[in-house]
Amino acid sequence: MAVTESTPARVVADIMSHPVATVAPGDKMAEAAATMRERRVGSVVAVDGSRPVGILTERDLVRFTASGGDAGTALVHEWMTASPDSIAPGVDVVTAFASLSEHGYRHIPVVEADELVGIVSMRDLMRIAQIQPAEHLAHEIPRGLEGVVVAETTIGDVRGLEGFYHYRQYNAVELAESRTIEDVWHLMFEGELPTLAQRAAFQAQIAPLREIPASIATVLPELARLGAEAGPLDMLRTTISLLGAHFGFRPSLDVDAAELRDNAMRVCAVVPTLLTAIHRLQQGLEPVAPDPGLPYAANYLAMMQGTAPSAEHARAVEQYLISTIDHGFNASTFTARVITSTGADLAAAVVGAIGALSGPLHGGAPSRALDMLDAIGTIDNADPWLRGAVERGDRLMGFGHRVYKTDDPRSVMLRGVAERLGGPKVELAEQIEAKAIEVLAELKPGRKLYTNVEFYAGIVMDTCGVPRTMFTPTFASSRVIGWCAHILEQAAANRLIRPSALYVGPPPPQPLPQLR
Ligand SMILES: CC(C)(COP(=O)(O)OP(=O)(O)OC[C@H]1O[C@@H](n2cnc3c(N)ncnc32)[C@H](O)[C@@H]1OP(=O)(O)O)[C@@H](O)C(=O)NCCC(=O)NCCS
Repeated sequence: MAVTESTPARVVADIMSHPVATVAPGDKMAEAAATMRERRVGSVVAVDGSRPVGILTERDLVRFTASGGDAGTALVHEWMTASPDSIAPGVDVVTAFASLSEHGYRHIPVVEADELVGIVSMRDLMRIAQIQPAEHLAHEIPRGLEGVVVAETTIGDVRGLEGFYHYRQYNAVELAESRTIEDVWHLMFEGELPTLAQRAAFQAQIAPLREIPASIATVLPELARLGAEAGPLDMLRTTISLLGAHFGFRPSLDVDAAELRDNAMRVCAVVPTLLTAIHRLQQGLEPVAPDPGLPYAANYLAMMQGTAPSAEHARAVEQYLISTIDHGFNASTFTARVITSTGADLAAAVVGAIGALSGPLHGGAPSRALDMLDAIGTIDNADPWLRGAVERGDRLMGFGHRVYKTDDPRSVMLRGVAERLGGPKVELAEQIEAKAIEVLAELKPGRKLYTNVEFYAGIVMDTCGVPRTMFTPTFASSRVIGWCAHILEQAAANRLIRPSALYVGPPPPQPLPQLR
């Protein structure tokens, strides 16, 4: 621990806050939340007389809110940490700091002779002890960075408890229901929806950029052959690297906003062409050239399937694509911003983001929900199959979400799209969805598990003739627009993203072992 030499020996009593914000264990959660808000504190101590019997922190409030409980009836003692550790007022601040950081506490009651005399927070201690935050802040930050704000953005956000997400200032679902993907792409890049004239100009800008440069088109068959086992998304990483080299993309640090935007337009426009060409080559088919007369989604399906799709299928896939352009600070978006923050070129940031997206915990497993429907087969089989899976501890694919604790708005919209398309799989999916929610509510009560985006995305894509191997690539072809919007935003107000880690190995420096 790095405490400066001149740090005066101070004790907890010197820096603790008092009087302490307290509640009774039998108080309602709403009352405790109001006390925290009014007193502007991050925790309240539950007392019996003046004896502390529990502590309720902001983290507990978040847990409680996420559980969907009623703050007007739930009681403090149901959510507090009972019999909390405490510290004596005479303890020196360095020892107190070590104790809090060791346990990962943010606040600790100060108790003398069984009586609550104050409360001390990690922040108070750090300020006073002049301790380097990098060494110990890790205790304050959750693993996986859940809930940690790492940037400011005007691109969009997700409100998990409300089941709402937005692009810029607009409801993303409303955009998917009423706009084209080119319009939303314009919104993401330019910050505003286009007028009719701007829409036409934007489409005209995109059309020629869909072409694969000849030098890359020449090597594509060989790449597709070499990467036959890997699939189109992995091959996309390689081709984006080639594309960056072909167009001479320069470090984002060295280019102005117009040049970086130009790079972004090229990448977003050509990704669908690259993915469908690789897919067709891997199937032993000739790539289909982009049709400048077709809008984005119809062109995408035509390049994949070899024939122009029905207007209905093109619109359904377009709605899916719009709904997946952006979704808060997800792992691939964060990756794109981290790479851009180093000043690297746009191709490098997109390649890194594709890598992050390819993992099964992010975008790498969207066909699993459909595989589950196939395995269940008939509605009669649904109850025993689902029950058996949950009882074995398996996850039902297409259910549950880290952020949404209510209906995932994307799944609600895609259910509507699937219903519009119709077909036997849709009916079966709806019956299985209802049964799965029932089984999850019974066997996993209180976990708030509902359908996520994957469940109906698979149905919609399957009904529109998109093969399962193209599910994640299709996701990537729209998400690249979101990544690029974030890359442009990061570059416009850049600061190197360079966090710290907590070293937990053997205390250094150890003597070097003798070489024997
Ligand atoms: C999406 C997902 C990873 C989010 O997980 P998370 O927020 O970390 O949730 P947790 O893993 O903490 O799960 C909380 C509880 O709900 C249960 N749960 C979560 N998702 C579940 C699912 N799909 N089926 C059955 N139980 C599930 C967990 O078993 C856990 O139960 P427990 O309290 O008895 O241990 C998770 O819901 C999941 O694995 N879903 C299935 C895969 C999927 O559809 N992925 C696509 C996401 S878009």
